[in-house]
Amino acid sequence: MAENFPIPRTCPFAPPPAYERMREQAPLVRTKLPGGDVWLVTRHAEARQVLSGTGISTNPATPGHPSGAMSAEPSTSERDAFMEEFAVGHFIDLDPPEHGRFRRLLIPEFTVRRMRELRPAIQRIADELIDDMIAKGPEAELVEAFGLALPSLVICRLLGVPYADREFFQSRTRVMISSADDQETRHAAAMEIRGFLDALVTKREADPADDLLGRLLGTEALSHDEIVGVMFLLLVAGHETTANMIPLAALTLMRHPAQLAALRADPGLWPVAVDELLRYLSVVDWVAFDRVATEDQEIGGQFVRKGEGIFVLGASANRDERAFERPDEFDIGRSARHHVAFGYGVHQCLGQNLARAELEIALRTLFERLPGLRVTVADDDVPVKHESPIFGLKALPVAW
Ligand code: HEM
Repeated sequence: MAENFPIPRTCPFAPPPAYERMREQAPLVRTKLPGGDVWLVTRHAEARQVLSGTGISTNPATPGHPSGAMSAEPSTSERDAFMEEFAVGHFIDLDPPEHGRFRRLLIPEFTVRRMRELRPAIQRIADELIDDMIAKGPEAELVEAFGLALPSLVICRLLGVPYADREFFQSRTRVMISSADDQETRHAAAMEIRGFLDALVTKREADPADDLLGRLLGTEALSHDEIVGVMFLLLVAGHETTANMIPLAALTLMRHPAQLAALRADPGLWPVAVDELLRYLSVVDWVAFDRVATEDQEIGGQFVRKGEGIFVLGASANRDERAFERPDEFDIGRSARHHVAFGYGVHQCLGQNLARAELEIALRTLFERLPGLRVTVADDDVPVKHESPIFGLKALPVAW
């Protein structure tokens, strides 16, 4: 039995040390939460089995789902109403076949070819942000100036948010995902963004363009509210994840100067390096991987009953020595593409091609344009989100 889940990280570059002990012990370990016991999946093979298996649900409305188990408090009617409003179109929480209705419509928007077309726009955004840093330099705080800003501007572009509204959109998004603000403030920001997206969809229904939103409207397969929900999901799923990865990946590379030098000498190494960064840093751990068994089954030799909740520990699976040699070493020479940083199975990250393009362009441009980039505080003084469900840095002061 594991105690005190979730277990905070103690090092920015490694999962909690307890994960290794649990992984050695068994592929599934029971843990006690205030609202009931759940299974933790510790190994790579079993993680993939749970994420791609039948007889497993991701829908928070399925009896036994662990989403409420973190708190002993019964849910309040305000919270239920908030969740209900945001459930429409939030297909990450739907099971097949309903999930497929959304996913099929969105897949053509995130193909490798579509992302190749988007690359010049991402490059422009990266260059403009660095121009701005240079103009205000030679010092900056990288999380705010680059990490948060780049994915936000990319999503604005993807969703068709007009230039004039980007400032508002970015500032509200920042509050919504901030760990400094309380739940009420974050919920209020989420409501404002949803209101904004609702108005945007209404406007574009009357005047559609040839972009993601226009094409979704053109299919007539989704209701107005479902499209608003899909837009909101793309914003939430695509922002905080990428925003946490960029500064943490930059710091990781600065701590491995020989590998950074190899990337500078041969930019063709970036795609493989990005997957290794995703594996090694695993910013999404258990938070997206909440599931419940909908039938009795055996997973990794463990009998799991219908109605039992499951958290897949993505950060543990990505350090499983059964799947990766020398898993605790950061090595851009390895092929890490089978990591589960983007999940696995029907819910595997829809935006993974976009995320890879963003990370590659952001990091390559940063190190090319600021060759003298360095961290200006001592290693132990880099503030880290040890307690946050999506892992990252609170700030990264740099100079060049
Ligand atoms: C480094 C960046 C990213 C990471 C680490 C990441 C991680 C993940 C993970 C682990 C899942 C699976 C959740 C589950 O199994 O329940 C997921 C799903 C998803 N992601 Fe990402 N993601 C990233 C970037 C993005 C971007 C840029 C977008 C789009 C703008 C995006 C859109 C989505 C969507 C829509 C889903 C739900 C897919 C479905 O349920 O069919 N993600 N992501």
